[in-house]
Amino acid sequence: MKIIVINGPNLNMLGKRETSVYGNKTLKDLEEYIKKEFSDNINIEFFQSNYEGAIIDMLHKANEEFNGVVLNPGAFTHYSYAIHDAIKSIKTKVVEVHISNVYQREEFRHKSVTAPACIGQISGFGFYGYILGINAIINSND
Ligand code: DQA
Repeated sequence: MKIIVINGPNLNMLGKRETSVYGNKTLKDLEEYIKKEFSDNINIEFFQSNYEGAIIDMLHKANEEFNGVVLNPGAFTHYSYAIHDAIKSIKTKVVEVHISNVYQREEFRHKSVTAPACIGQISGFGFYGYILGINAIINSND
């Protein structure tokens, strides 16, 4: 089982950006936390980019190389039809994750244009959301 965790724009700033919303832990802390939660027979890789095209390229690559994708598209969630189409273009399952509860926040965050292309969405459980997302892929049965 090979899973890739893709984090989008500004998530490299975790630990520095809006700590009241996203907490004090860094992206590296997040990746170490995820690794620790799963045994070695779940192979988990990580990718972060601030660029829409790089995320799209990685989704295409995931189709060949991974059984599932946990994707936090950052602000692209709210307007990237290109990422929506990329998710639709691959067979690999994609779960959308948000650290914050986007539905409690500004109006523009209430709409996800990417979630309808995913098997599901997790929002508001902090870093634990990524664990839920990986378990959703492991336990989904097609
Ligand atoms: C986020 C929520 C988005 O609205 C925001 O643009 C982010 C992070 C989250 O993880 O809560 O960059 O995806």
